[in-house]
Amino acid sequence: MKGIILAGGAGSRLYPLTQVMTKQLQPIYDKPMIYYPLSLLMMTGIKEVLIITTPHDQPHFKSLLGDGSRFGISLHYETQAEPKGIAQAYTIGEKFLDGEDSMMILGDNLFHGNFQCFRNAVEKQKKKEGGVKAHIFAYPVKDPERYGVVEFEKKTGRVISIEEKPENPKSHFAIPGLYILDGSAAERVKNQKPSKRGELEITDLNQTYLDEGALNVEVISRGMAWLDTGTPQSFLEANSYIGALEQRQGYKVACLEEIALRMGFIDSKQFSKIIEETPNSPYRDYLGIILKEHGK
Ligand code: TTP
Repeated sequence: MKGIILAGGAGSRLYPLTQVMTKQLQPIYDKPMIYYPLSLLMMTGIKEVLIITTPHDQPHFKSLLGDGSRFGISLHYETQAEPKGIAQAYTIGEKFLDGEDSMMILGDNLFHGNFQCFRNAVEKQKKKEGGVKAHIFAYPVKDPERYGVVEFEKKTGRVISIEEKPENPKSHFAIPGLYILDGSAAERVKNQKPSKRGELEITDLNQTYLDEGALNVEVISRGMAWLDTGTPQSFLEANSYIGALEQRQGYKVACLEEIALRMGFIDSKQFSKIIEETPNSPYRDYLGIILKEHGK
């Protein structure tokens, strides 16, 4: 399974913050935003990741994350010339994917909680039982009209419909920006037409799987936090949430070096080398604590 982070977009709701720096490099408490979606992919065991950005921002992502070897993973980069829709990620990433299944996460989606549900979905996707070729998720929200919305049959839990930003949502279950699709996604997008707003819609792509009875929608429990950071208010809330948690626990959320060590992507020797190379900072002190805790 390969990973994609879609981190382009206009970021217009955060203007002027996004006039010179893209949304996904802005700070969420003590790290750039992209650390959070990347940490999720790493924690589900994905080691090969494509990062799609605007042409203007690509050099910044490269200088931040490099080729990923620091984290024991392999990072690739592509650009999206214009924000022509989330589904376009699959045609941009076609060569990278090379027909493999993928987990895609939007660069401004932040999850915190027990990621076992995502690992389970990846395992299910590998088995493709009952003709299921795609897994997406559903999460209860107060304002479903802002998102793709999924409607379930009451008795069976079967998915009846998925709708993009409906005026009258049929449920309060929003679809978060996390999609596990099979290797046919790029081909499907090629047959897709842009929507009225001129975008290749992820909802239309997911609909093709639903039409074939090949889509599974997994409800994420309320114990998980799903935050998106597209508006000044939600951005502030995400910062406060991570800040409160880190202050309380003394552990960092989405520390990529720590995750790489705990996942076994790098060993203690490599981790020690990273510490040596890290500028003197509270972040470096934290890495030192993690190394001691992990044992050499
Ligand atoms: P949005 O929040 O829908 O769009 P945006 O980030 O451009 O912000 P705004 O609406 O304020 O202008 O996008 C969700 C995520 O998907 C975000 O991380 C950007 C990314 N995205 C792309 O990279 N390319 C696209 O074509 C679209 C539609 C989104």
